[in-house]
Amino acid sequence: MPASPADRLEVTFASLKEKRAEVVGLVVGEGPHFPPVAAQLDDDGDGVLSRAAEAAAFQGKMKSIADVLAPSGLKEQRVLLIGSGDQEKADENDWVMLGGAVGGKLGAANTTIASVVVESDGETKLPVHEIAASFALGACLRSYKFDKYITKKDSEDDGAKDVRLAKLVVHCPDPKKAEKAFAACKAIADGVMLARDLVNEPANILGPVEFADRAEALESLGVEVEVLDAKEIKKKKMGALLAVAQGSSRPARVVVMSWNGGKKNEAPVAFIGKGVVFDTGGISIKPSAGMEDMKGDMGGAACVVGLMHALAGRKAKVNAVGLIGCVENMPSGEATRPGDIVTSMSGQTIEVLNTDAEGRLVLADVMHYAQERFEPQMMVDLATLTGAIMVALGKSYAGLFCNNDELASGILGASGVTGEKTWRMPLDKSFHKMIDSKNADVKNLGGRWGGACTAAAFLERFVLDKNTPWAHIDLAGTAMDAPKNDINQSWGSGWGVRLLDRLVADNYEG
Ligand code: BES
Ligand code: MN
Ligand code: ZN
Repeated sequence: MPASPADRLEVTFASLKEKRAEVVGLVVGEGPHFPPVAAQLDDDGDGVLSRAAEAAAFQGKMKSIADVLAPSGLKEQRVLLIGSGDQEKADENDWVMLGGAVGGKLGAANTTIASVVVESDGETKLPVHEIAASFALGACLRSYKFDKYITKKDSEDDGAKDVRLAKLVVHCPDPKKAEKAFAACKAIADGVMLARDLVNEPANILGPVEFADRAEALESLGVEVEVLDAKEIKKKKMGALLAVAQGSSRPARVVVMSWNGGKKNEAPVAFIGKGVVFDTGGISIKPSAGMEDMKGDMGGAACVVGLMHALAGRKAKVNAVGLIGCVENMPSGEATRPGDIVTSMSGQTIEVLNTDAEGRLVLADVMHYAQERFEPQMMVDLATLTGAIMVALGKSYAGLFCNNDELASGILGASGVTGEKTWRMPLDKSFHKMIDSKNADVKNLGGRWGGACTAAAFLERFVLDKNTPWAHIDLAGTAMDAPKNDINQSWGSGWGVRLLDRLVADNYEG
């Protein structure tokens, strides 16, 4: 039951002259200052809109909204005055967030179709067609809901129907240009929503095999997808990944996705995701309270699949590979025990002291395979790797560990653009000392302190060539159950898809 596109907000663009829906949003400047179409409508209603603005003390500040119901003298059912503040200062993400805020207002009302008029109030930092596209992106992201398993959609108590905004028409000066700009935004929005779907989906529905199937569906966008089954994984000697998978009756999968939109023979950028479809902890079992959240332990892999969708959907001029390791971490008679020593694909032996530190085992092998096979020009891994990163940074920042300052500043820069916040954390010899093992090359547990840092150090041991720029992003706090905002109301956030898409767009497309 994949979410059907019909469940999703449909966005179209129209000129300023075209007929509008009965519910209309008007973007106005600080003051409030009404740009031409808004001013005309206000005139038509003998100043009803400016009077409403005054009554509501609406000053047109960014993201302030005045809701005018049944304005007298106008045929509109409802007019939203949408404050956009100083448009000379508003960045791309401000417009995305504004679109989200307005989408939320419209979505909460009994409205299925709405028009929003996006006009400039004078000078704007961004061209107006880009403003319109960003606004629409925000509205799309906000409209996402994961309710496919709720069979009773109408509330029986009060007879209220779950009426949802289905269609948004964005009126702007150059709709053709806006539509073109939106095509890329749409691909990104679809990638984000795909990642959200994967994170939200329960583990009984989405095992390693089903997850791989969903990734395989990217073939329809022109992504080459290869799925390695358990036999092939064994043949490649991914002993660390298999040590995690062996406790589950559901077999592992490794998925390799390639998007070849760049120059022939140019080394790809590589993205690697932790895809633990459910993490019980294994024999080092987790406490039961809150364990249900571990259906989201594939947030890194979901981000990679969403990113590949976005890159292919907007035909990015880059060679990119996405590799994910899909496993389930279960306790059973076949499960790995604490103290077991396993051999990773790299040849390094690992003493498994805690079977709940499983993500690093999965990544060790997938990272190794990615480097050996693709010799990428850079690599980023994403994982819901540690609870410790949430202790350090809370739930609105992801941890960024990076062996290369240029890559780090690329990621921090993209972070600043999309608002998906990252904070740089240390890689250091001292953390490596903490994971030296008496019995093997490395152990998967670092001791009491700096748990996110020892996990990152562990991964660093699987960077083949120290000159390869590599970043590890720990999104345990941000991928799921993160604070809700204007563009995300879902448990699975789709965090990182926009960020990495922007990283690629700004640094690796040519
Ligand atoms: N998947 C968890 C990390 C996690 C915890 C993600 C909570 C999201 C929310 C990971 O596999 C794990 O269990 N990590 C352990 C590592 C420890 C055993 C060294 C942790 O953080 O407690
Ligand atoms: Mn775990
Ligand atoms: Zn885990």
